[in-house]
Amino acid sequence: MSQRKRVLTGITTTGTPHLGNYVGAIKPAIESSRDARTDSFYFLADYHALVKCFEPERVHRSTLEIAATWLALGLDTEKSVFYRQSDIPEIPELTWLLTCACAKGLMNRAHAYKAQVAENEAAGEDPDHGITMGLFSYPVLMAADILMFNAHDVPVGKDQVQHLEMARDIAGRFNHRYGEHFVLPEAVTDEHVATLPGTDGRKMSKSYDNTIALWLPEKKLRKAIMKIKTNSQEPGEPKNPDDASVYAVYAAFATPAQRAEMRQAFADGIAWGEVKQQLFERVNAELAVPRERYEALINEPAKIEHELKLGAERARDVAAPFIRSLREAVGIRALG
Ligand code: TRP
Repeated sequence: MSQRKRVLTGITTTGTPHLGNYVGAIKPAIESSRDARTDSFYFLADYHALVKCFEPERVHRSTLEIAATWLALGLDTEKSVFYRQSDIPEIPELTWLLTCACAKGLMNRAHAYKAQVAENEAAGEDPDHGITMGLFSYPVLMAADILMFNAHDVPVGKDQVQHLEMARDIAGRFNHRYGEHFVLPEAVTDEHVATLPGTDGRKMSKSYDNTIALWLPEKKLRKAIMKIKTNSQEPGEPKNPDDASVYAVYAAFATPAQRAEMRQAFADGIAWGEVKQQLFERVNAELAVPRERYEALINEPAKIEHELKLGAERARDVAAPFIRSLREAVGIRALG
């Protein structure tokens, strides 16, 4: 394995990208992929999508939209390896090897699984109601995604930190049994990246239905921004930016100078309508050019498919020899 630092992250293909995804994950990832000292791996976690989404059309559409989004926003596919999980057959293969090194008790402790059990119990249902083996062993598949490429750093949201601890645990057990094959990966959660509030003031999240889609056409984007909740303070009244979702969203898109100016405008009693208009202009200025690229790409899915296939080839250049050595290590070997 090379000495360069490997950064890897996956995006589950169940939804349409929104502003929160852009600010919290996509933009920082694309920026960090330009760092010449690291090798970055970004992939569409479509096997993970199957755990929670049973609508084939939606999984398919989401894969297209997310791939087009990353490409439109300027991901350099020469510098980073951009691929789709299901194009790498070595990943499910590794999942099994890891499953056999993973304590069931470890999976019993997974937050997502436990939450589902608690919900069942509260509803007086059987504790296993609606729980598939996909949900239960989701962290093993995620460990395989990461360990397959011996990633050092894995940028994720805080809700995924436990999965990284599990990946380390599984890797450690495998190494202990079969020799040092895996790097122990670390979760990287960025404290500086603000979680973006949604239109109702809570964290922007698909599960709260308060998102603003990233690629809304201009008019709809303006309309969505105008709907962000504010308090009832009148124009002319000094306002507190740190108490206002509109400011938090503005800050995520603005330069330090623009932020300082906006804070002053709040102190001077800027009207909410005016803040929103300026917010719209900022967001739109940043997204207008990539939006055109996105629209062109989404209408040329074959081009995206081609990019992903090239990425898969490069990923498999790493994965195929590694899985061969792992098979060898566990005793799955040619007989003569
Ligand atoms: N579980 C992650 C999420 O829901 C997505 C994911 C799948 C992932 N495999 C991964 C993230 C590997 C980082 C590394 O956000």
